[in-house]
Amino acid sequence: MTLIASAGAFSLGDRTVNRMGYGAMQLAGPGVFGPPKDHAAALAVLREAVAIGVNHIDTSDFYGPHATNQVIHDALHPYPAGLTIVTKVGAVRGADASWNPAMTPADLTRAVHDNLRNLGQEVLDVVNLRVMGEVHAPSESSIEAPFSTLADLQRQGLIRHLGLSNVTSTQVRQARGIAEVVCVQNLYNLAHRADDALIEELAAIGIAYVPFFPLGGFSPLQSSALSEVAAELGATPMQVALAWLLQRAPNILLIPGTSSLVHLRENLNAAELVLPADAIATLNAIGGKP
Ligand SMILES: NC(=O)c1ccc[n+]([C@@H]2O[C@H](COP(=O)([O-])OP(=O)(O)OC[C@H]3O[C@@H](n4cnc5c(N)ncnc54)[C@H](OP(=O)(O)O)[C@@H]3O)[C@@H](O)[C@H]2O)c1
Repeated sequence: MTLIASAGAFSLGDRTVNRMGYGAMQLAGPGVFGPPKDHAAALAVLREAVAIGVNHIDTSDFYGPHATNQVIHDALHPYPAGLTIVTKVGAVRGADASWNPAMTPADLTRAVHDNLRNLGQEVLDVVNLRVMGEVHAPSESSIEAPFSTLADLQRQGLIRHLGLSNVTSTQVRQARGIAEVVCVQNLYNLAHRADDALIEELAAIGIAYVPFFPLGGFSPLQSSALSEVAAELGATPMQVALAWLLQRAPNILLIPGTSSLVHLRENLNAAELVLPADAIATLNAIGGKP
C-alpha cells in the first residue's frame, strides 16, 4: 500500500492536502477535447487515486470542455470529506479545440457557475485565475480586473479560496493586494526552472506552488541523466522526476496527470522515494543549475 502521506501535507487556506495529488486534465479526450476515450477507465483512475489517499485533485471546466468535471462528479460525488478540488477559470474552448482567453466579468461568472454545476458543488474549494498571456509562460499585464471579479464571487460565497496560474511575481503581489492567494500554478519541472526564485518567494509567505507539466506534459521528460539516476535507485524516471520536485521545496504540491491506472500507481509511489544527495546534484544539472 502506497503511503502518499509520507510526502507530507500543506495548507490551502483552511484546507490541508497531501503534497502528492492528481491532475485530471489527461482524462478528457485527445487534445483535452471531448469526453474521455474510455469513461470506465477514467472513473477507475479517479476512484483509485482517492482510495490510495489523494485528497487534492486539479481540474478545469475548460478540459473537455465540461467533460473532465463531469467525470470527476460521476466518479466521486458525493465527495469524501477532506477532498479538495482545485479548478481554474480564464479561458474557453473554441469549436476547433482552441484555447481562448475569457476574462471579462461575464466570462468569469459563467465559468464559476459552470464549475459549480458540473462538479455538483455549492461552493468551489479553490479557483485559480488562469492568465492566458503566452500559452505556457507568464507575461506581465494587469490582472486587477479579473482577479477583482473572482474576489467578488468569493465574497458572494461561491468560492472558498483563490489562486493564480501562469503568473509572474509582480502579478502575485498585485493579486494579494485584492484578496488572499493560496496557490500559484505555473509550468515547472526538472528541465524548466524559470520559477526557481518565485518558488522561494512563495515558500516564505506560505503560498503553495503547484507545478503544471511536472512530468513534462504532452511530451514526458526524457533525459539520459534522469534514466541513469532512476536505474541506480530502482525507480522509474517519472518517479524520480516527481521525487525531485518534492525535495525541491516544502511548498511544492504535485498534480501529475495520467489516464492510466498503472501510471497513477507508479506516480503516487514516488511519495515514498527519497533521493540521495548525489542523485539530486545530478538531477539539478539537467536544468542547468548547480
Ligand atoms: N494551469 C495550467 O495552465 C495547466 C496546464 C497544463 C496542465 N495543468 C494541470 O496540471 C496537471 C499535470 O499536467 P499534465 O497532465 O498536462 O502533464 P504531466 O503530469 O507532466 O504529464 C502527463 C503526461 O505524462 C504521461 N504520464 C503520466 N504518468 C506517466 C508515467 N508514470 N509514465 C509514463 N508516462 C506518464 C501521461 O500519459 P498517460 O495518460 O498515458 O499516463 C501524459 O501524457 C494536469 O492534469 C492539469 O490538471 C494545468
